[in-house]
Amino acid sequence: MQEEAREENIGIFDSGIGGVTVLREIIKVLPNENYIYYSDSKNNPYGDKTKEEIIERCKEIFRFLLERKCKAVVIACNTASAVASSYLREKYKNIPIIAIEPAYKMVHDYSYDKETLVMATKGTIESEKFNLLYHKYDNHKTTLLECVGLADVIEEGNEDKIKNYLEKNIGEYKGKVENVVLGCTHYPLVQKEIGQVLGKNVRFFNGASRLAVHLKDVLEEKNLISEKQEQGKIEFIDSLAKKEKEERFYKFLKEEKL
Ligand code: DGL
Repeated sequence: MQEEAREENIGIFDSGIGGVTVLREIIKVLPNENYIYYSDSKNNPYGDKTKEEIIERCKEIFRFLLERKCKAVVIACNTASAVASSYLREKYKNIPIIAIEPAYKMVHDYSYDKETLVMATKGTIESEKFNLLYHKYDNHKTTLLECVGLADVIEEGNEDKIKNYLEKNIGEYKGKVENVVLGCTHYPLVQKEIGQVLGKNVRFFNGASRLAVHLKDVLEEKNLISEKQEQGKIEFIDSLAKKEKEERFYKFLKEEKL
């Protein structure tokens, strides 16, 4: 089984191009793997869908990725991870599933005593999975903010709309928070703009680099690491097949972390 799987792909998906912020951390530690990135922009946002709807989307994406012989799947969407990862792990027992989650434990580990703003989708903040994490590491100085519509404006890419959204929705936290958890994979794409609204000194927490190391550990443990010596391929698939999405995806993939 593992012999067959060798040299194949790692599947990664999100409701759109936001998961690129996860993939760009992964390729730093696993540059020789081949990746298939699935962007489900036809069905985004996931943030205000029901659990059942998200599970249905994930099942369809899994079917596609497994047909394309993925040896592991990364859920690069906090919302899908929060509501569907347990179900998916139960259903697809033979494939490693690595799921992103808001980096709230990192706050506990590195900056516990500071005022903290967790930005995430409604789906993530209301999920049982996130609530377990939150109550386990609660620093009692945390505001949970459902950023309804923020992933959408980032996906659309209109800079004025992004700035207006941030000023209107997070402006009131300026000078009041020191830690900011980027609990949706789209948000690191506007980290600079969030910093401009909240003040340059805020400290950002993003779970992508930890996920990347964890993925590498899991692949090593299961003897699934590619033996190729050259750089792997990255294939981008979008459920709306929009050229513009693809171009932005590859642009963000190359962009240095802010
Ligand atoms: N990028 C996704 C996340 O990390 C979801 C955005 C959305 O579709 O609402 O939660």
